[in-house]
Amino acid sequence: MKKCKMILKISSITKIGLILLLLMGFTAFAQNTHYNKSSFVSLAFNVASVQAQQVVSHAQTLQVAGKDAQKETKKQVQNDDARANYDKINDKFKDIGPGNNTVKFVVALVVFLLAFWAVGKMKGKVKWVAVIAVLLALGYISKITYTEARALGRQQGYAPVQPIWFSHKVHAGQNGINCEYCHADARTSRHAGVPSLNVCMNCHSQVKEGKVSGTKEIAKIYKHLGYNPTTMQYDKPGKPIEWVKVHNLPDHVYFNHAQHVQAGKVACQECHGPVEEMDRVVEYKELAMGDFCLKCHRERGIDQSNPYYKHYDFKDMKKGDKITVDKIGGADCSSCHY
Ligand code: HEC
Ligand code: HEC
Ligand code: HEC
Ligand code: HEC
Ligand code: HEC
Repeated sequence: MKKCKMILKISSITKIGLILLLLMGFTAFAQNTHYNKSSFVSLAFNVASVQAQQVVSHAQTLQVAGKDAQKETKKQVQNDDARANYDKINDKFKDIGPGNNTVKFVVALVVFLLAFWAVGKMKGKVKWVAVIAVLLALGYISKITYTEARALGRQQGYAPVQPIWFSHKVHAGQNGINCEYCHADARTSRHAGVPSLNVCMNCHSQVKEGKVSGTKEIAKIYKHLGYNPTTMQYDKPGKPIEWVKVHNLPDHVYFNHAQHVQAGKVACQECHGPVEEMDRVVEYKELAMGDFCLKCHRERGIDQSNPYYKHYDFKDMKKGDKITVDKIGGADCSSCHY
């Protein structure tokens, strides 16, 4: 009798937990997502998390920015055989990010419930099998929770569809165009910047056709600029193109490209991955404070030939010692946070 009561008690707690989980799942599901890889498990924890506010507003910003472009491109994908390849071509990078854990999560949950029920009902050896199943399922659920919680507010794997099928693989890869030809500001300013369509015209006033998309995608450059390729005149009003931003650090973080590219001599690929192999840009690394920014700052030496450091007083350091970035303030909260 006593034992029965215990089980009832535990299961009512579980019931409440389950109802909460389901509610969170549904809220998240209803919210839907901007994020091509995220699952409703991830969003369920968004809702539960103390960060909910931040994450949701961040997601909304992205959603608003991305919606128009996504809507427009969706139509194009349907009408355009060339663009049907758009998703497929990016296959190489499809496993970046937390992935979609929804199915695994649901299966683990079902196993957990069945096993939990079996612990109460069964006797003897079967009961112990059920106990082990409960523990295993719980362990697995925790693992998924951890993965999803880590990804909170971060967007590793985010790869929005862009309004023009612009491919880094074609440009930076196959045609070997230097990153800084288009992202000229990376060396001198905080933002690497995205080139204006006039930069595209340096080549595309001549190159009117691509191997993958024929003339269709390049024609969009002309359209946005109000350019007529037959008469070679800018005779119509143009309309600026709205690229969808891929990388977005939270607003409370300060990041500066020049500091890394110019002073720090860090290659673009160390932070952005092999962009020259990507058709669609994907956020390749998890831009996390600890495992990304601080990890490098604690290991990486600064460029001591930089004349700026002549005036620096590195206490207790011999000439020639490696001076890591954290020694010059790269681990102080205020150097990265407003
Ligand atoms: C011919 C011009 C051109 C070249 C060369 C080029 N890019 Fe880009 N890049 C663009 C354009 C246009 C975008 C915006 C559209 C997009 O995201 O695909 C962009 C976007 C990006 C983004 C994503 C920005 C965001 O929204 O967060 C990264 C990162 C990037 N480029 C890195 C590189 C790197 C690294 C190289 C060299 C390997 C490179 N680019 C070479 C034109 C170029
Ligand atoms: C130390 C890491 C790091 C290096 C090196 C780096 N980037 Fe970035 N890049 C970032 C981060 C972080 C962001 C997001 C910034 C934000 O949201 O404020 C970003 C954003 C961008 C963007 C989006 C537009 C912008 O400026 O915010 C482009 C384009 C870009 N990077 C291109 C490049 C290119 C090209 C290089 C090499 C010349 C490069 N990056 C080197 C970390 C890096
Ligand atoms: C330095 C020269 C150069 C610049 C600058 C340049 N492109 Fe290109 N682009 C090329 C070449 C060359 C090709 C043809 C590649 C092929 O298909 O062989 C090409 C192809 C393309 C294609 C068709 C790809 C395909 O295979 O279907 C598109 C779309 C495109 N570029 C868009 C852009 C946009 C947008 C910009 C500006 C952000 C830009 N390009 C800037 C040289 C350039
Ligand atoms: C791959 C290595 C690497 C990564 C990743 C990296 N940094 Fe850095 N960072 C450097 C180097 C090298 C310097 C030193 C540059 C110099 O000599 O001034 C630096 C300097 C800085 C500084 C100036 C420190 C000071 O007080 O002078 C800030 C701020 C900074 N990084 C922010 C960030 C942020 C934010 C991120 C993550 C989004 C990040 N960094 C990721 C290598 C990195
Ligand atoms: C080298 C740069 C850097 C330094 C130094 C740094 N941060 Fe951060 N911090 C970041 C970045 C980038 C993010 C956002 C990315 C993420 O989610 O980790 C962040 C996020 C945070 C967040 C929000 C966490 C979240 O999950 O939203 C807090 C709080 C924070 N940092 C506190 C601190 C404190 C306190 C210090 C000093 C002990 C510090 N940071 C030093 C780069 C830095």
